[in-house]
Amino acid sequence: MKNLLSRLNQDIRLILKDIGNIADERGVAVFVVGGLVRDLILGKENFDLDIVVEGDAITMAEAIAKRKKLEWVCYREFGTATVIFSKGDRVDFATARKESYAHPGALPKVVAGSIHDDLFRRDFTINALAVRINPVRLGVLIDDFSGVQDLKAKRIRIMHDQSFIDDPTRILRAIRFEQRFNFRIEKHSLNMLNLALSKKAFQTVKPERIFEEFRKMLSEGTPQKSLKRCDSLGALDFLGIKLKNLSESLRLMEKFSYSSRPLQKKLFKDNPIEAWLVYFMILVEHFGEKDLDTIFKRFNLKKIDRNKIASSKQGHVVLKKLKAKRLSPSQIYRLLSPLSSEAISFLRIKAASHRILVRRIDQFFLNYRAVALSINGNDLINFGLSSGNRIGMILAQILDEKLDGLITTREEEILRAKTLAVQG
Ligand code: CTP
Repeated sequence: MKNLLSRLNQDIRLILKDIGNIADERGVAVFVVGGLVRDLILGKENFDLDIVVEGDAITMAEAIAKRKKLEWVCYREFGTATVIFSKGDRVDFATARKESYAHPGALPKVVAGSIHDDLFRRDFTINALAVRINPVRLGVLIDDFSGVQDLKAKRIRIMHDQSFIDDPTRILRAIRFEQRFNFRIEKHSLNMLNLALSKKAFQTVKPERIFEEFRKMLSEGTPQKSLKRCDSLGALDFLGIKLKNLSESLRLMEKFSYSSRPLQKKLFKDNPIEAWLVYFMILVEHFGEKDLDTIFKRFNLKKIDRNKIASSKQGHVVLKKLKAKRLSPSQIYRLLSPLSSEAISFLRIKAASHRILVRRIDQFFLNYRAVALSINGNDLINFGLSSGNRIGMILAQILDEKLDGLITTREEEILRAKTLAVQG
C-alpha cells in the first residue's frame, strides 16, 4: 500500500504536497481520508478530497488559501473549511474529532481528537481509512479497523454495535455501498441493522437527513438494486407511505438505469438532468396528490424538486396527446415545454416501446427546445403595443411559426410582429 498516493493524478498529488508542506511548517499532522482512500484501494476514480487535520482545520485552510492565493470558505459552526484550488478542485478540511451521541439519531456531540478517534466515529471499516500526507511518513496508511481486509473480502462492516442506532441513516448507506460495489453486509453488521430496524430506528432521525441519504441512493448508477435490497430487509418504512407496484417501478428503473448514460450524452450534454428525480418520479408514479403532498412535506423537499416531480403527474395526459397521428414541431413543443427535462425523461421511459413517441421527445430536446426568438417584448412595445398579455401571445405565436419553419430570419420576425400588432 506504500505507493497508494502515486495512483492519484498529478494535479491532486501536487495539491496534497502543498497541503503536507504547509502542515509541516505549522507542526500539525494531516491526512486524506474516507471515500477517496477507499476508492484508491479499489482502483476507482474519486475526486472528493477530504482532509483531516490533527489541529485546527480552519486556520490550516486559511494558511493554505493565503499562501497560494486561493478562494476559501469556512463553516465556523462545523469547524470545517473548503479551499478551491486553481483548477476548481475543492478540498474540504475538518478537524480530527471524537463524537458521542446524546441520544439515538441525534446529531453527534463533537470534541477535537486524534486521527484514530476520527476514524473510529465513521460508519464502516471500508470508510475508516486515512493516508498521511505530511512529507515525513508520506503515504502511510492508517487502517485501525482492518478496512483493507474488508475491502478485499468485499464486506461492509460497522465499527461497533451501536452504529446503526446512533445514526440510522447508515442503514441506507450500508445498502448503497453494498450494491454499488457488489459487496455484502457481513453477518453481524446485518444482525445489528435488522435490530435497529426492529427498534424503528428511522423514527429517531430528522426526515430530511434520511431523505438526503435516500437521494444519494437514487443518484447511484443502479438504484433499483438498493431499493430491492431495502424492500427485502423491510427498510423502506422510512417513507411513511407504502410504495405501490414496486416490482413494476423496479422494472422501469432498470430500463432507465441502462439508458440514463447514453441519454445524458445524447440529449443533455450541456444541461445534465438529475437522474435521482427520474427514479423518484418512477417510484411515486401511482401516488395520488394527497400521498405525494405528504411525502413532500415529510421530507421537506425543495420547491424546485416538488414542481418537477409534480409536473411528471401530467405525464399520461401529455403522452396521450403526443400520440396524435400528425403533430407539428410547435405542437410537440407546446406539449412538452411545460414539463421538466426529468419529467420528460420519465415519459420517454414509459413510452420506450412506442417509436414515434420516443422520436418526438428526442426531437423536442435536440431541435425544438433551444429555439428562441431574436425579438423580445421591448421590440413589440416599440411597435406600439402596450398590453403585456398581448405581447406574450404574439411572441408565442411567432415562436410557433419559427418552430414550424414558417419564419427564419430576424427581419421576418419583425415583419410578423408588426403585422400581428396592428391586427389587434
Ligand atoms: N460518514 C459517516 N456516517 C455518515 C455519513 C458519512 O461515518 N452517516 C463518513 C464516512 O467515513 C464517509 C465520510 O463520512 O467516508 C464522507 O461521507 P460521504 O461523502 O457521504 O461518503 P463517501 O464515503 O465519500 O461516499 P461517496 O463515494 O458516496 O461520496
